[in-house]
Amino acid sequence: MKRPRLLDLVKPEVLSLTAYRAEEPRPGLIKLDANESPFPLPEELRRELRRALDQVDVHRYPDAKADRLRSVLAAQLRMSPESLVLGNGSDELIQLLLLATSGPGATVLAPVPTFSMYELITRAHGLRFEGVPLGPRFEPDLPTLIETIERLRPEIIFLATPNNPTGGVFSEAEICKILAVAPGLVVVDEAYGPYAGRTMLPHLVDQERLVILRSLSKIGLAGLRIGYLVAHPALAAEIEKVRLPFNLNSFSQTAAIVLLNHHEWIDANIGEVVRERERVMDCLVALAGVEAFPSAANFILFRTTRSGGDLFETLLQRGVLVRNVGSVPGLQDCLRVTVGTKAENNQFMEALTKALKQD
Ligand SMILES: Cc1ncc(COP(=O)(O)O)c(C=O)c1O
Repeated sequence: MKRPRLLDLVKPEVLSLTAYRAEEPRPGLIKLDANESPFPLPEELRRELRRALDQVDVHRYPDAKADRLRSVLAAQLRMSPESLVLGNGSDELIQLLLLATSGPGATVLAPVPTFSMYELITRAHGLRFEGVPLGPRFEPDLPTLIETIERLRPEIIFLATPNNPTGGVFSEAEICKILAVAPGLVVVDEAYGPYAGRTMLPHLVDQERLVILRSLSKIGLAGLRIGYLVAHPALAAEIEKVRLPFNLNSFSQTAAIVLLNHHEWIDANIGEVVRERERVMDCLVALAGVEAFPSAANFILFRTTRSGGDLFETLLQRGVLVRNVGSVPGLQDCLRVTVGTKAENNQFMEALTKALKQD
């Protein structure tokens, strides 16, 4: 009997994808490529964490629904625990949302350029992804967006606000206009929301199509892999059905409970990054040969008049790793730099200034 070749066993939709690429950590480099928080845990929090992790029973499965962590998060958000679904990073929640809601033929829409996982996960599910271009400076183009929504009637719309990698935001009024015409769900991804000081959470009471995605990754806890989704409890209950039990391991759950009780540490770091963002932005704006785009996140996107790829390599040689996003359609010669500590930002700005003078 003739059997298919190995790769014929893989879905064509998957064969056509390019895997998500994360940089390998390289010692000695200033790491400004992944939108992480630059602040390590202070020693007293490390000690408290060690004590808590010491109590973890590794021979037992974790709390299957992460009920303790869910209650801590729900209390901080002033939401009912039933409105929350917890994921192994918010990436996993994007996958669960599509799994629970979007059948064959469904369309997923997002303003582009945006976070690449929306398209990757959509296409891996065999669904149609429709990107609607943002404006020339990556500002929302509401008329085009609304016209496309009315024409294609997507099952899901993803709105990252602030958007990655551009840094721009959708205003509350713009999101409400989109909610008013959307036939399906509107997923507002607030992974960087804390850096913008805004949230759509209060709208959940009267907008049952609204789903909010949040992440602990960008506010100092990337290593834990914890994200959460907030939605109408009836929808959250359906998404729960496709979540694999025990998706959050015991160490992550325990660590998150300890560290979320120190919100003052998280909030102070967010404040410091926001101040530094403005300082880095002022420097970028003043540099000839650089166009920086407005950002409400913990990173800044900028375009250079020289080759973005060359500039990326020059910065790397000077010990600074940023993200080269130049291969994304619409982002030719663009780099994205994460806001780091004051010292890291100084080194980045010095390296960039020298690199631009080098020509
Ligand atoms: C807009 C946006 N949403 C979600 C994520 C996923 O975050 P995580 O899976 O770490 O929670 C990212 C990560 O870069 C992002 O930029």
